[in-house]
Amino acid sequence: MNRKTLLITFVLAGFLTACAMRRSEPAKQKMFEPATSQIANGEKIFMAKCQKCHPGGEAGLGIGLNPVPAPKFLKRFQIRHGLGVMPAFKKEEITRQELHDITSYMSAWKHY
Ligand code: HEC
Repeated sequence: MNRKTLLITFVLAGFLTACAMRRSEPAKQKMFEPATSQIANGEKIFMAKCQKCHPGGEAGLGIGLNPVPAPKFLKRFQIRHGLGVMPAFKKEEITRQELHDITSYMSAWKHY
């Protein structure tokens, strides 16, 4: 094996290990008992549609959401329109009520 092949092998191995570590993170994480049915519903939708990129609100493929003090209407805009890698969620996928449930759920994080 020449030096170049060796280098490429090392870089690839490092990359694959990093990917494997990401996958070993817990897929689901119950952070708290939701206080209202609205928050509970928001949690359910978040787990189904957002958790994979924002695991427990932490950074995954998406960025960390916990420390984000963005007002709810901005969050709703972001969810509806997407940004960069984050897909847009249209009305057929997340209803207006569900959208409000999700942001209530995300706001509830601050209190726990
Ligand atoms: C495919 C991965 C993916 C999914 C699914 C996803 N997001 Fe994101 N999200 C991202 C990425 C990446 C960003 C950062 C976008 C950027 O700034 O370019 C982001 C950014 C955000 C932001 C903005 C944070 C800030 O400070 O700008 C919010 C809020 C957010 N996501 C909420 C959600 C919610 C709620 C859901 C589920 C309905 C969701 N995301 C689903 C990847 C994802």
